[in-house]
Amino acid sequence: MRITLGVTGGVAAYKAAELVRRLQQEGHSVQVVMTRAAREFVTPLTFAALSGQKVITDLFRDSSGSEANLESAIEHIAVAQRTDLLLVAPATADIMAKFARGVADDFLTTLYLACTAPVVVAPAMNVNMWNHTATQENVATLRARGVKIAQPDEGYLACGMTGPGRLAGLEEILTAIHEITKAHRDLDGETILVSAGPTCEDLDPVRFLTNRSSGKMGYAVAEAAARRGAKVILVSGPVNLETPAGVERADVRTAEEMRRAVLDRSAEASMIILAAAVADYRPVERRAEKIKKGNAPLTISLEPTTDILAELAKNKGQKIVVGFAAETERVAENARKKLASKNADLIVANDVTAEGAGFDQDTNVVTLFSRDGRDHALPKMPKTEVAQRILDEVLRLRSVLHAPASRHSNV
Ligand code: PMT
Repeated sequence: MRITLGVTGGVAAYKAAELVRRLQQEGHSVQVVMTRAAREFVTPLTFAALSGQKVITDLFRDSSGSEANLESAIEHIAVAQRTDLLLVAPATADIMAKFARGVADDFLTTLYLACTAPVVVAPAMNVNMWNHTATQENVATLRARGVKIAQPDEGYLACGMTGPGRLAGLEEILTAIHEITKAHRDLDGETILVSAGPTCEDLDPVRFLTNRSSGKMGYAVAEAAARRGAKVILVSGPVNLETPAGVERADVRTAEEMRRAVLDRSAEASMIILAAAVADYRPVERRAEKIKKGNAPLTISLEPTTDILAELAKNKGQKIVVGFAAETERVAENARKKLASKNADLIVANDVTAEGAGFDQDTNVVTLFSRDGRDHALPKMPKTEVAQRILDEVLRLRSVLHAPASRHSNV
């Protein structure tokens, strides 16, 4: 797992060094982020040496002090995307207050807001600060949001007082991590087949028909499913994206290649999510030589491709089959038609002309049309978050559509 460890300013900051070692011994890679106050207690060099990675200390500069540039300005987003778990240890009262209120004034607080991964917070502070209503309310807010709190230990504190406030032991912190990751692995044991990206249909050796799909939406689904414990098979058209960690990827180019790859792997999947923008038409013939330029209009005959989603969903049995609908008008009407005509369980409809939605955007605006009649419009959100919502809906839908038959008593 890729763990991002936030270290904040407290005497217990030195204990985070041992935590880095333990996490690495468990096979995790650790990216350390230090707040300004943390650097008063321990130097970034300690963590850089232990983790083998550059320590992030500032929203606009790294620990080497290099100047601000575009890369450093958006690094919190990149780190958020590659974080499987955000751990903050030790966590001060201040950082918890900022997390609770959504303040984003340094790298760690900004990362917390940008991160969709599970979060574990291990507080450490003076007993009165811990017991203060303000802190307890912040802790309650974080818990209610799903943040796992590694409860501080009771004992003699650095401030000379005795009581709760000491950083939880390493074993307790590791247990909190195991518990929260287990809870977030609700797709353990599932095999999910995802399609993503465009297809390309050749006209001649130099030209082809394609569309604007970047693959971002499908890749976000694949990554989210893998993080939630699924085995993921990603059938991808040509895109410029890295394969998400733990995902098995099959590259294809044409609609027919995508069809074959999807059908080949569909038997082993319990869920199929087709986010690819597949060509609806392909040239009737692919010319062996480059089509020569001329003055007369050129007519190219196209023939329909096979609808992969409809073909798959015909014999889907207990599988949950999800399609997308890229629309430019009458979104709801068209999406409902696709849900019925393609025999899908869920259609994720996006108006690709809307601001922040559709092709090549990092965000999307979708409505989920489910087989059980539930329509659910989501606000604009990152595609990574849309992916999570789709997976949530797939799980809900399966429990509704394929609930075990109720047991009848024969008394
Ligand atoms: O890749 P991005 O840049 O992130 O953009 C995301 C997206 C806009 C591509 C994505 O959100 C999306 O809408 N994907 C589906 C695009 C599409 O082809 O929609 P459609 O309405 O034409 O097709 C409906 C469904 O049928 C889709 O699930 C599609 O995969 C499937 N289909 C279509 C044609 C075909 N021959 N076979 C299919 O299975």
